[in-house]
Amino acid sequence: MREYPSERVDLRSDTVTQPTAAMRRCMVSSVVGDDVLGDDITVIELQDRLADMFGKEAGLFVPSGTMSNAIAIRAHTNPGDEIITESTSHIYVYEGGGYAALSGCSIALVPGKMGLMNPVDVEKAIRKGDGSLGHYPNGSLVCVENTSNRGGGSCYSQEDLDEIARIAHKNDCAAHMDGARIFNASIYSGVDVKRMVRDYDSVSICLSKGLGVPVGSVLVGSSSFIALAHRWRKMFGGGMRQAGILASAGLYALDNHIERLSEDHIRAKKLAEAINNLEKFSVNLDTVQSNMVYVSVPEKQATQTVEALSSHGVDTIEIGDSTIRAVTHLHITDEDIERTISAFASI
Ligand SMILES: Cc1ncc(COP(=O)(O)O)c(C=O)c1O
Repeated sequence: MREYPSERVDLRSDTVTQPTAAMRRCMVSSVVGDDVLGDDITVIELQDRLADMFGKEAGLFVPSGTMSNAIAIRAHTNPGDEIITESTSHIYVYEGGGYAALSGCSIALVPGKMGLMNPVDVEKAIRKGDGSLGHYPNGSLVCVENTSNRGGGSCYSQEDLDEIARIAHKNDCAAHMDGARIFNASIYSGVDVKRMVRDYDSVSICLSKGLGVPVGSVLVGSSSFIALAHRWRKMFGGGMRQAGILASAGLYALDNHIERLSEDHIRAKKLAEAINNLEKFSVNLDTVQSNMVYVSVPEKQATQTVEALSSHGVDTIEIGDSTIRAVTHLHITDEDIERTISAFASI
């Protein structure tokens, strides 16, 4: 569905999506309360629905994926602890060092392949304060990102997800999943989200990415964890009042925008293959498992490539000197993909 207020093809991110007309109608008619006082029934419905879908006891609606991860880290750890995560993870690269500033944690980085950690490497990276004569920080939380954004939208196998959670728990660590795009991962792997996160203590689910909601994420976990998370949400300033107007968009998306993610995956694959066939550009097709395409451009030509595409009405973003990214989403049509392929071919 195009439904986009511009003729441009905006592939910068799946966060650029705008609420569709049907989603807006749902928002307009939503019943709202005061969620800080705990009586917004639409927020409660969204939290309960996601908790149920993910097989957890409770959920908490928060303004962003970054806050959801920050609250999870704060609720699972104590200052002086260490979190363990992949070296290009969103928590490490793009969340302003929140794990250090807001939770007082250090970070142990695990090298990944296509953004995905190997369970053996996770185990090697866990350091415990006990038994180290006080030398080491206390590794207490393992964070896994599925799909992996910087990995190119790649997805974990269920075997590895289970094994990483097992290793975390064996070492007295909690296991958190940054599931900003977990429904994309589920569509790719065919594994239901409830099974996927069975062994994870908390999961952050973003509604404002492929699902097309304007604002919001939901953190799910046990009742006691969410009670703690609720307190941290308050302290981080994430309590929202008539938030049901946003939660209603989330409920609409759960009913209408999950299955269609497969279309985004097909389009991303088509785009990736076509770009990879061009002499000037290449794409590691193995990573193209969901809705992202990371394109290698000639050495240090990322800025000029983004500008050249922009002059053809196609928006992408620069990820490094020689890499740009294109992400498919609900406003990108087959015609937009053809137009993007032509734009790449013409530069
Ligand atoms: C993997 C991942 N986690 C978390 C986030 C943070 O979400 P937000 O932009 O809502 O803070 C993003 C955002 O793109 C992301 O890609």
